[in-house]
Amino acid sequence: MTSEATCPFRAWVEVDQGAIAHNARLLRQAVGPHVKLMAVVKANGYGHGAMITAKAAREGGAAAFAVASLAEAIALRRGGLQEPILVLGHLGQVEEAHTCLRWQLLPTISTLDQAQLFHGVASHWGTCLPIHINLDTGMGRLGAPWQEGVAMVQAIQKLDGLQVQGLYSHLATADAVNPTLMEQQQQRFDHVLAALTNQQPWPAPMPWRHLANSAATMVDPGLHYDMVRVGLALYGHAPAEHLDGVLPLRPAMAVRARVTLIKSVPAGTGISYGHMHHTERPSRLAVLAIGYGDGVPRLLSGRMGVLHGGQWLPQVGAITMDQIIIDATDHPQLHTGAVVTLLGRDGAASISPRQWSQACGTIPWEILCGFSSRLPRLITPCSKHHDDHLPMS
Ligand SMILES: Cc1ncc(COP(=O)(O)O)c(C=O)c1O
Repeated sequence: MTSEATCPFRAWVEVDQGAIAHNARLLRQAVGPHVKLMAVVKANGYGHGAMITAKAAREGGAAAFAVASLAEAIALRRGGLQEPILVLGHLGQVEEAHTCLRWQLLPTISTLDQAQLFHGVASHWGTCLPIHINLDTGMGRLGAPWQEGVAMVQAIQKLDGLQVQGLYSHLATADAVNPTLMEQQQQRFDHVLAALTNQQPWPAPMPWRHLANSAATMVDPGLHYDMVRVGLALYGHAPAEHLDGVLPLRPAMAVRARVTLIKSVPAGTGISYGHMHHTERPSRLAVLAIGYGDGVPRLLSGRMGVLHGGQWLPQVGAITMDQIIIDATDHPQLHTGAVVTLLGRDGAASISPRQWSQACGTIPWEILCGFSSRLPRLITPCSKHHDDHLPMS
């Protein structure tokens, strides 16, 4: 934890690169030497910083990276990442195809029209562009309908401007306790793979087959194929309660804020916008310099707390854009300038993104992605001691 004296900020996100590298190593061990680890670093590395995450994941053994957009991919290339980068989002414009060639990025292909466009641009460059074909086996989002998968892959194989480097699908319910839908998606994926392998020998090199997200990677080695695409677990969180403890993951993020003001108010005082809360007793309130403008969901108003010295202090009243208020009546030791923990570990206690997401009806992914660029990211590098933070923004 950052010391109160050394950090000049009002609130910040701490990112432990060592934890990300550790998690990547664990995942590498879980999938074994013949399966590649693709680190999903979209949405600014789930809020941790895309380049920071990518470097740590690479140190832990990630061989490839996935992002959602070209802008995210280019930022990684500009940061010096040379490994394969798959763009998971749909690209359908000629300029986007040129950009893939220029920056050596792998597009996701869901339609034959799209494949023909990319083939045309690659032919114009006089080269062959590696692509990954996405099959919709039940996600209902991107990807070619799996029933058309064999015909589409075969048609794309005939386009000499494209090389099918990957064949993938995405699971809709891998984190559910009931595996029925996931098994159905896997059967559809297998059906396409088997049909393709049976009909003709695959021209070398064989494409990378990939299906598993974090949950699938953790539940069943049969879902690993040639590569797994892992996001949430890389950042140290199991995707569902029944997967807690499957791997000894280390959360990589902590969110901390400083107490900027302490005040004493009488019983019956209305607190914050709308007076959603009235003090029931003479109270000692502490104002923290963090709010929904930083990524603390307003829906958590009155449903969250913070840690100080390993103890829980409840938040009261509406969360505002830049400040939140906590009730420190039972914590006379809390002083102005003190640092409290909103997410992450403080001594023996900790608060997880899942606790937040359960309290406000969302998912941990959204909580992590939600921290805005207004919060500086303080990085603990892989090789450094835990207290040795480098400010990054
Ligand atoms: C296509 C695709 N693959 C893999 C992932 C990683 O999922 P998770 O964070 O559950 O590991 C995502 C995340 O949204 C995704 O969209």
